[in-house]
Amino acid sequence: MKVNSWNDYDPLRHIIVGRAEHTCIPGWEPALEAKIDRGSDMWGKWGPRPLETVEKGNEELDYFVNVLESRGIRVDRPTPLQWNQSAHTPDFSTQTLFGCMPPRDVLLTVGSEILSAAMMMRCRFWEYLAYHPLMQKYFDEDPNFRWEQAPRPRLTDASYQLDYFDNLTQTGLEEKARNLDFVTNEHEPLFDAADILRLGKDLFCQHGLTTNRRAMHWLQRHFPDHRVHSINFPDDPNPIHIDATFVPLRPGLIMNNPVRRLPPEQSRIFAANGWQIIDAAWPAHDRAPPMCYSSVWLSMNVLVIDHKTVCVEASEVNQLEQLDGLGFEVIPIPFRHAYSFGGGLHCATADVEREGTCEDLFPKQVPGTQILSN
Ligand code: ALA
Repeated sequence: MKVNSWNDYDPLRHIIVGRAEHTCIPGWEPALEAKIDRGSDMWGKWGPRPLETVEKGNEELDYFVNVLESRGIRVDRPTPLQWNQSAHTPDFSTQTLFGCMPPRDVLLTVGSEILSAAMMMRCRFWEYLAYHPLMQKYFDEDPNFRWEQAPRPRLTDASYQLDYFDNLTQTGLEEKARNLDFVTNEHEPLFDAADILRLGKDLFCQHGLTTNRRAMHWLQRHFPDHRVHSINFPDDPNPIHIDATFVPLRPGLIMNNPVRRLPPEQSRIFAANGWQIIDAAWPAHDRAPPMCYSSVWLSMNVLVIDHKTVCVEASEVNQLEQLDGLGFEVIPIPFRHAYSFGGGLHCATADVEREGTCEDLFPKQVPGTQILSN
């Protein structure tokens, strides 16, 4: 076996798919309202999710695994912890942990390295442990595998704006997000791996409430041969993870959420290097399933298997049609019961191996996005 993946579209050989067991709705912590707002059906609730929802979520995850395996892709699964337990560090305590359905949030694969992220939610501090048995195995089986971990954040109150949500209206939230003013601050490097879009030598990081600029500077020093870019989508009031906003489909083609467009000054680097950015299709649903953290735009959270094949949530008819029209073989995967455990088909996976090497896909660098220059 070999750990090797430089982007989200080269032919897939080996992947991790999450599991729903023991997943909890987190208890109160400083940034919780960013994930569970006051209008959510989860507001004020915490603890284990109902067992029948876990069973349905797992059925969909298992079906997804079967489809991938039937295509010759090797699939590994994490080892869930009992997430329904309190946990402590010298700096904070939590009432529950979270889960291990979305490995994409935790694990960043860059070439032969898998890096555990410095996540901003306290309930997710120990989540990397669910992947520890796999990392140990890869370490034993692949002599070139780099098993890495970003600096563990302390997540004291100093990492958050504790009064951020006080009397905050929707308009106020939108304005703050446009000004890159988030509930997390720049006190220490914080990032979720799902904010980092890997395109060969270039890493495009979404600056939002799960990833700050300090983390991008840390990533640039950690990956000195890469170019780390900071991008943001000003019309998204809740920027959490890039994979329902800006999704590469094959070399030269990216789909962008039409209500969260990349501003012109930041899209110049794509145009200058011959990349086309198209609007994603409109979601088929007008609301997310019950007890779900994500928006309806999980419709575009697809898993690309190779340059001609893509997995799409089965009921997302508009997205299916759009990708079919672009020449893809589209594999429908029922996944709406799994959504509530942490996201869509891309969120629920983490790359271990794809064919291909580290390509320089953006030889013409354009001022505006590189973290070292701004
Ligand atoms: N946070 C992303 C969305 O819900 C996944 O659109």
